Amino acid sequence: MKLAVIGTGYVGLVSGVCFALKDNKVICVDMAEEKIEKLKRAESPIYEPGIEELIEQNLREERLEFTSDLGEAVRRSDIIILAVGTPSLPNGEANLQYIEQAAADVGAAMNGYKIIMTKSTVPVGTNEKIREVVARHTRHAFDIVSAPEFLREGSAISDTLHPDRIIIGIDNPELRETMVELHQDFTDNIYVTDIRSAEMIKYASNAFLATKISFINEIANICEKVGADVTNVAVGMGMDKRIGSSFLQAGIGYGGSCFPKDTNALIQIAGNVDYEFKLLKSVVEVNTDQRYMIISKLRESLGQLNGIHVGIWGLSFKPNTDDIREAPSLEIVETLVKEGAFVKVHDPIAMDKFREQFDHEHIQWCSTAEEAALGCDAVCLLTDWDHYRQVDLRMLGSVLRKPVLIDGRNVFSEQQIAESGLEYYSVGRPR
Ligand code: UGA
Repeated sequence: MKLAVIGTGYVGLVSGVCFALKDNKVICVDMAEEKIEKLKRAESPIYEPGIEELIEQNLREERLEFTSDLGEAVRRSDIIILAVGTPSLPNGEANLQYIEQAAADVGAAMNGYKIIMTKSTVPVGTNEKIREVVARHTRHAFDIVSAPEFLREGSAISDTLHPDRIIIGIDNPELRETMVELHQDFTDNIYVTDIRSAEMIKYASNAFLATKISFINEIANICEKVGADVTNVAVGMGMDKRIGSSFLQAGIGYGGSCFPKDTNALIQIAGNVDYEFKLLKSVVEVNTDQRYMIISKLRESLGQLNGIHVGIWGLSFKPNTDDIREAPSLEIVETLVKEGAFVKVHDPIAMDKFREQFDHEHIQWCSTAEEAALGCDAVCLLTDWDHYRQVDLRMLGSVLRKPVLIDGRNVFSEQQIAESGLEYYSVGRPR
């Protein structure tokens, strides 16, 4: 099939690359010309393991093109995928400006019947707005499809090539066959439903996963007080198939461009129809508080923060990405600096992005984990990069001024800690 993908962020680029791998002809469009020039050289604007090799292969085998000419891409394609960003407005609502603009541009460029498929995360009812906007700009017939995306950063390619399920929202039953044909190379597990339900499935899924995380984080906080170990609790809970073992890893909470944005948007969507989503509001509140757990543990161990030296391991919101959007590290580092602490930070790849967002004379940027720990009163691990699992903890004890390790992601085992002689704090595990 001939596809145009509008927007080359995570969702657009990864979808474009994966559809091309399945022998579709794909044109990826972005208005940022410098991005397109890089992509034509197989240089990815996002950090995602394996993506550049796949772009290169698709370009070589002539299944993938990049352009900033939206009109041409639309005219040469049968299916137009909208994958532009829907960032948060100050009140938490999704900003639909980019998607509405893209819909208008697509409508204006249409030269015949097209299927317009939305992959961006959009509030319930948005696809209908998209239909209205497109209709205002074209005389040609078209159909609208909601196809929300469930890929995770850092494993985006394999999530797209091997998804648990694909959700398709349509209101014209005749589209079912084409949609199944387009997606069946990825999985047979395709659920075709109505458009509004498909839109809601995306928000409900992210909100549910965020709820699991905040739930286990609260269990962890209670475990600390009653002497239980949250890691063991999560294993035992996860053995019940109805609960499932994933997303029960306690820590300093979720970040990233999706859970914080989508939970707030869903609270707002409910609010707009006079429904207070109390449970989800608490999930968000618990998540915010959980970040400060690192600060309270530092206080518990060192007393006041003014003048202390703290090593920070990991800045990205999770491993295998350089994305620091809504990362717990931002608030934690800012708080430390405000309290007068000196901070030495390390991250395998996210330091540049962090520095663009927040810099301060109290921050020292370090090229190794060891350097970030050298001479510090404590080290705080904020991102569970594999890199930190490899660090020799006895070495860590020898370079720290005080042997304090605060593990915000429960990365180290009891045995490793026992052998290290460190004063160790983790989340929801006995000390
Ligand atoms: C998330 C969803 O997992 C994807 O299904 C969805 O498509 C995506 O949002 C989106 O809406 O685009 P992502 O934000 O890339 O994907 O990352 P996750 O792997 O889900 O992790 C999110 C955050 O939760 C991270 O900060 C991670 O450290 C934290 N987390 C995750 C925990 O604290 N505990 C866990 O058990 C799992």
